[in-house]
Amino acid sequence: MSVLSGKHIVLGICGGIAAYKSVSLLRLFIKAGAEVQVVITPAGKEFITPVTLSALSHKPVVSEFFSANTGEWHSHVDLGLWADCMVIAPATASTIGKMANGIADNMLVTTYLSAKSPVFIAPAMDLDMMRHPSTQANLSRLRSYGNHIIEPASGYLASGLEGKGRMEEPENIVVYLERFFAERSDLEGKNVLITAGPTYEKIDPVRFIGNYSSGKMGYAIAEECASRGANVTLVSGPVSISVKNPGINVVRVESAKEMLDECRKAFPTSEISIMCAAVADYAPANPSDRKIKREHQEVPVITLVKNPDIAATLGKEKRSGQMLVGFALETDNETVNATEKLAKKNLDIIVLNSLRDKGACFGTDTNKVSIIKADGSRTDFPLKDKAKVAADIVDEIINFSQSKA
Ligand code: C5P
Repeated sequence: MSVLSGKHIVLGICGGIAAYKSVSLLRLFIKAGAEVQVVITPAGKEFITPVTLSALSHKPVVSEFFSANTGEWHSHVDLGLWADCMVIAPATASTIGKMANGIADNMLVTTYLSAKSPVFIAPAMDLDMMRHPSTQANLSRLRSYGNHIIEPASGYLASGLEGKGRMEEPENIVVYLERFFAERSDLEGKNVLITAGPTYEKIDPVRFIGNYSSGKMGYAIAEECASRGANVTLVSGPVSISVKNPGINVVRVESAKEMLDECRKAFPTSEISIMCAAVADYAPANPSDRKIKREHQEVPVITLVKNPDIAATLGKEKRSGQMLVGFALETDNETVNATEKLAKKNLDIIVLNSLRDKGACFGTDTNKVSIIKADGSRTDFPLKDKAKVAADIVDEIINFSQSKA
């Protein structure tokens, strides 16, 4: 049975001559047992008729925001949530440009912007359009957002020219997706606990001690684990981002104490725990119930008390078979400090990032990490998009847990 069986696939079709190949692709998806919803651009309908596509997919084809007959609104949000993946084949230069820049003037692009699932883009265009810097810049931007580009093949093009631009053959697109989903189910049924973001430690009802953590790294790891089939509990400090995968159980907390309480609930049943949060080391000893006023008083002195070390606490409670992963954000003596933390907190793996590396750490969309394991081995990774760093970290965790088993 194909791993695509039972998967919900949104098949986006654009207005290019390769749209005729989408019919074969649709048939192959259906044959593999997938449920397919076709979304076609207005230009796409010039190349292939919705009648053919709806007959093969057993569903009405979606193209407009509203049904002309009934006035019914087609919800791109619902479609985005329904999808296990979205495949845009063929993806024209125009749609690629709209997707890269958020120009949501048709149902396909709005669905793409609402999609919480992996997105696969199979470009098809003439070789000069394909190699134009604007197309290449748009594709690299889409790649950096975590989309998967199924590179076009080289060969005879509809224009009569020969070169790179032919949409990948439908059979190969199916193999690409099958591989993706097969690899991505290596955490199926596993419970994963992740902490992310900063903690806020109350000074008074309007002020707190916090830090610059954006939560992006922890959220990317949560998405990666969920997409590989894990049941994810994400204990998150206050951040302005949200999860894309609706299966992730987000538990929002504010302080380190609250974070520890929530982690303790999930930890005993978690096979893997990844401590990504930037937990404040200290909290005000006596937070005020009322706003501290400036007038009529001396400059206030805030006495601090030590916060619990969540990773170290869980490290003490760890049973054999459980994996505990921590992060070390260092400014100097990186390796020595990280290795010490690994031992002190009883971690299996520590992910080291240095504030000295440009583009790494707080607030950025990229990170550069080294992964140090309890057996002393170490892997250094180059600067990458946080989604890709998340995939590297999860790969390393899985490999290490398999080597220990
Ligand atoms: O000791 P340091 O704060 O550098 O350790 C960082 C690691 O420990 C991270 O994985 C972080 O999430 C975790 N940590 C924690 N609770 C604290 C402080 C750090 O879980 N109070």
